[in-house]
Amino acid sequence: MSLEVRLCGVRLRNPTVLAAGVLGTSPHILKRVYDAGAGAVTTKSIGPREREGHPNPVVVEFECGLLNAVGLPSPPLEESVENLRRAVKLVKGSVIASIYGETAADFRHVASLVSEAEPAMVELNISCPNVEGRIPALNPAESAKIVGAVRDVVKQPLIVKLSPTDTFTIKEVARAVVDAGADVIAAVNTMPAMVIDVDFGRPVLSNRRGGMSGAALRPIAVRCVYDIYEEVADANVPIIGIGGVSSGRDALEMMMAGASAVGVGTAVLKGLDVFKRILAEMEEFLEKRCLSLAEVVGMAHGR
Ligand code: FUM
Repeated sequence: MSLEVRLCGVRLRNPTVLAAGVLGTSPHILKRVYDAGAGAVTTKSIGPREREGHPNPVVVEFECGLLNAVGLPSPPLEESVENLRRAVKLVKGSVIASIYGETAADFRHVASLVSEAEPAMVELNISCPNVEGRIPALNPAESAKIVGAVRDVVKQPLIVKLSPTDTFTIKEVARAVVDAGADVIAAVNTMPAMVIDVDFGRPVLSNRRGGMSGAALRPIAVRCVYDIYEEVADANVPIIGIGGVSSGRDALEMMMAGASAVGVGTAVLKGLDVFKRILAEMEEFLEKRCLSLAEVVGMAHGR
């Protein structure tokens, strides 16, 4: 059975996408993840200037997921773009370039260089919870301003990654970025959270606060995808559903909420075989029910 999907004309051999994160820092690791079965791979977010990120500890596991506050570390921009070029050559499939900036002008500058490296798509990370200042994705006008600033310098389909932090405004933000020129929405980034070490009486992460991912995020992400689908389905804007997907049923749930593809992030830390497992489980479900993948997208919206 074919699990191939198309996002704005970009062919993915299957709907699983390596979500932006630590495995996206090196061309060789991106290739390994693609070779392990991912339908597309996303780089760690590329920034406008060299940036150290937060000191250790930057990751902590808890019963239902993970918290991270890596702090968007980035090599100098030229080096990141060179790495992206290498990844595009090395990976025999779609590479998505994730980018961030502190201002709309930063985003425009990074986007123009990154677009020239010929990734399949460019993703705007306007939703990282782990840096100083406000999360742009919490404000529709600010989000639209960033999309508007990059639109004419990005030749590829433009993905905008939203935040689950305020689930009540996510529809407004989705509408604003689509009106400003976004082609695809990725939902969602991690959820601001904290883990305290009770023995030491201090937060575990050096940044104190972090972004929560994994199983605990999944129902929040599903709700966000469901809401966004209600808002943008009429505009034919595909959604990449991200948050706690680690099985075929999780992926199908995300697609029933309205996602056309699913990001896999935290689950890859337990092994790259996760992609093949998700796909085999999806296929088995679809065959048993005589359903195509397309029929599942948005299914939960039926009455
Ligand atoms: O801390 C980080 O680098 C996380 C980035 C993100 O969630 O976008």
